[in-house]
Amino acid sequence: MHFLKHFSPELVVKSPGRINLIGEHTDYNMGYVLPTAIEKNIKFSLQKNDSDHHCNVYSRTYDTGFEIDLNKISVSRVEWENYILGVLYEISKISNELGGFDCIVESNLPTGSGLSSSAALECGLAFGLNELFGLGLTKLQLVQLSQTAEHTYVGTQCGIMDQFASVMSKAGHVIMLDCRSLKYDYIPIDLFPYRIILLNTKVSHNLASSEYNTRKEECEQGVAIIRKQFPQVDSLRDVNQSMLEECKNNLSQKVYLRCKFIIAENERVIKMAKALKEKDLPTLGGLLYEAHEGISRQYEVSCKESDFLVAFSKKNSNVLGARQTGGGFGGCTLNIVHQDAVLEFIESASKSYKDKFGIQLEAFEVKPSGGTSIVVE
Ligand code: GLA
Repeated sequence: MHFLKHFSPELVVKSPGRINLIGEHTDYNMGYVLPTAIEKNIKFSLQKNDSDHHCNVYSRTYDTGFEIDLNKISVSRVEWENYILGVLYEISKISNELGGFDCIVESNLPTGSGLSSSAALECGLAFGLNELFGLGLTKLQLVQLSQTAEHTYVGTQCGIMDQFASVMSKAGHVIMLDCRSLKYDYIPIDLFPYRIILLNTKVSHNLASSEYNTRKEECEQGVAIIRKQFPQVDSLRDVNQSMLEECKNNLSQKVYLRCKFIIAENERVIKMAKALKEKDLPTLGGLLYEAHEGISRQYEVSCKESDFLVAFSKKNSNVLGARQTGGGFGGCTLNIVHQDAVLEFIESASKSYKDKFGIQLEAFEVKPSGGTSIVVE
């Protein structure tokens, strides 16, 4: 691309991926989540150009780029371009201060691995443009417009967790976020002598985005039926297990199981927050295994590869707990592993996984890290 020859960035921003300790699919059901950013991130180098509407975006990681006319933004057939276009579209709805810019994107965050590279891409760009053009948007506005960009331009009806975690995280903490009120607390996370090890299955079944929207609809169907009996119910957040049991006969078995999972998962977030505060590591580990069981059997967003790795961890007494993290159908499992056993665990998991699926998994430690920020070079 032309601009690369005389590129001298005015601003560099990095935006992280995230893990979610627990609370999967609870965000769009107005419940609680417990995510945090990780060190892996996407970096944006930005400069203004002389035009008031012409933009260039180039991905150094994938050696591909495209040009955008701010006056003619529309959905692209190229998936990753839509994350960028969606953000530009949403910003231009609330601000007319945007002008032409050039941007280089570099990533060390694996895509399709449940670590939310999409939110990192959206939020990093939104944050960077807010700084570059002095748009004056708040962090919460950046989070919300990035989420909306994913709805309108990408087509995933996601909740707010990923964008919130990418922008708002604080090193050494998880965020206890109430997705209904958007009130949040930072909870310190001290797992010593355990570490958080991610095993990337390297599969991301392409059902993910369509099944995601289907799960959301199934929860909405559940709410509509439960509300007939309990008119005060607005979302699954307002439902407890005994209310659900009372409505069981009116719900299909599938919708019943989806609702049952969400209600239990929400309760697990609250128990997890308590376990973290009390440093009750056995309880913490148990909640992870319990959550995975629900993810797999009730919410049905796991896959054979994730199930295999979680079952493998369960047999290892040096692993306190494990589950698939993120939207589902592959990506990473999150494992709480004793620090003295990390290498042995990774080696044995890699070997078994390779024997079973012929896939070389990727394993790495993650540490709770800070949110989107300016890089001072
Ligand atoms: C994806 C979505 C989030 C959340 C998770 C599941 O990452 O983007 O909003 O729903 O799945 O917890």
